[in-house]
Amino acid sequence: MAKKETIAILDFGSQYSQLIARRVRELGVYCRILPHDSSPADLEADGTLHGIVLSGGPGSVYDGAGPRCDEAIFQMNLPILGVCYGMQIGCQHLGGKVSAAPLREYGGTILKREKSHDLLEGLDDSFEVWMSHGDQVAELTGDFEVLASSDNCPLAAVRHRQSEFYGIQFHPEVSHTPQGMEILQNFLFRICRCKGGWEMGRFIEDTVAALKSEIGDSGVVLGLSGGVDSSVAALLLAKAIGSQLHAIFVDNGLIRTGEREEVEEAFRDRFSLQFHLVDARDRFLTELAGVTDPEKKRKTIGRVFIEIFEDEAKKLPGIEFLAQGTLYPDVIESTSPLGGPSATIKSHHNVGGLPDVLNLRLIEPLKDLFKDEVRKIARELGLPPAIVERHPFPGPGLAVRVIGDVTEERLRILRDADFIVTEEVRAAGVYNDIWQAFAVLLPVSTVGVMGDQRTYENVVALRAVESEDGMTADWARLPYPLLAKLSNRIINEVRGVNRVVYDISSKPPSTIEWE
Ligand code: XMP
Repeated sequence: MAKKETIAILDFGSQYSQLIARRVRELGVYCRILPHDSSPADLEADGTLHGIVLSGGPGSVYDGAGPRCDEAIFQMNLPILGVCYGMQIGCQHLGGKVSAAPLREYGGTILKREKSHDLLEGLDDSFEVWMSHGDQVAELTGDFEVLASSDNCPLAAVRHRQSEFYGIQFHPEVSHTPQGMEILQNFLFRICRCKGGWEMGRFIEDTVAALKSEIGDSGVVLGLSGGVDSSVAALLLAKAIGSQLHAIFVDNGLIRTGEREEVEEAFRDRFSLQFHLVDARDRFLTELAGVTDPEKKRKTIGRVFIEIFEDEAKKLPGIEFLAQGTLYPDVIESTSPLGGPSATIKSHHNVGGLPDVLNLRLIEPLKDLFKDEVRKIARELGLPPAIVERHPFPGPGLAVRVIGDVTEERLRILRDADFIVTEEVRAAGVYNDIWQAFAVLLPVSTVGVMGDQRTYENVVALRAVESEDGMTADWARLPYPLLAKLSNRIINEVRGVNRVVYDISSKPPSTIEWE
């Protein structure tokens, strides 16, 4: 079996850091994204480190304010590839000068190869790359060799002769650099001497082994929502520690039709874990009475969730860990690579805060992965397709889709409308092509006419979006016949609704959920 090889990607705040990670994994090498100032010990982790990539970033290396790396990483005797800002960091450290470029460059440009080298092996003598920079390396010492240049950017690809540092001003990870994959491949296989062969199956094995040794014979509680992330986390843990895992499913009354039954069927008495169902419907509804402010709703739900977990954990013996199905995009949404927290757009709760309250250690086995990678693992673990392909569903559930007051009757209206949306979107064969499709109940009544009678009833908004990772999204161009059917069925079948509208906003500037 191939030996584990790891590449560390230090994140200086580029919107493309995740993309570098994806590409490396697509090439069959495992990688982790780490904060820009991680120490050599953080990078080494389990002694399988083969190379380091320094990502791009929005800062400037010469104004003192841009994020820095721990300079000790340059003494690790490992190949380092600096991309854009990462190139500038490395070149400055090794004696070069960085300054504002005479011409800022955003978009495609042609580079000329100046020298043959492994990094550019297999590329044409001139090749297209994609640039996005305002600064660039202006001067280098004689220890550097120029590998490629353009008219605007004479030092577009360079290498340091003594230290195995490579710098490229362009972005090999974006699809607009047509031969970018070749460059990354060269770095991984020729320069870092990786062998490749890593795949999701390996992730399962490695993760289960690591979980086993970390947890020992302690108990673990996991908030199981039945979504693909927490389900995969549950199965990995079940493989590692079996019945030491207590998966807790909370029915908060804010879930969709059939959801509780589906989750129970998938997990109770299966996978050797201990499944606990907590019926907290009344508790949540009571706490939410009169709460209309979106953040207050989210915080209230988050708090009650935590209280319930605390109560459950106290009843169980030897619990030392809390496991969560956090993914990489969740991590970047809640932290800023530049240190401080990023602006809070919404308080995504995912039982956050629980570790402080309970004094539990946190386990997040999926925190370096993307949703589609988690879905691949879910398939390998044999989770039912209904869970693998399920659209994301927010932690606060239907409460953030009932705009305004959350009451039992309003939840009933939304649940009925939502059921029709899912059923019809599936029947039209587009469920798996879109990120999410759901209904939102507005706090607005409008006038209608049904069977010669005036009605004054609720409006349901339909929301369907396409997205790669939930961070940006565009409204889905659902076929008109599907929209017509949805509107027709919802108005006819859901008591209390006389109008349906379609949300045609992208994210940004809107968000996917309405609250
Ligand atoms: P927004 O509304 O922020 O949503 O554009 C982005 C994605 O995240 C989901 N979402 C949540 N997921 N806990 C979650 O686990 C939450 O509190 C939460 N709020 C939003 C949302 O459904 C979309 O897929």
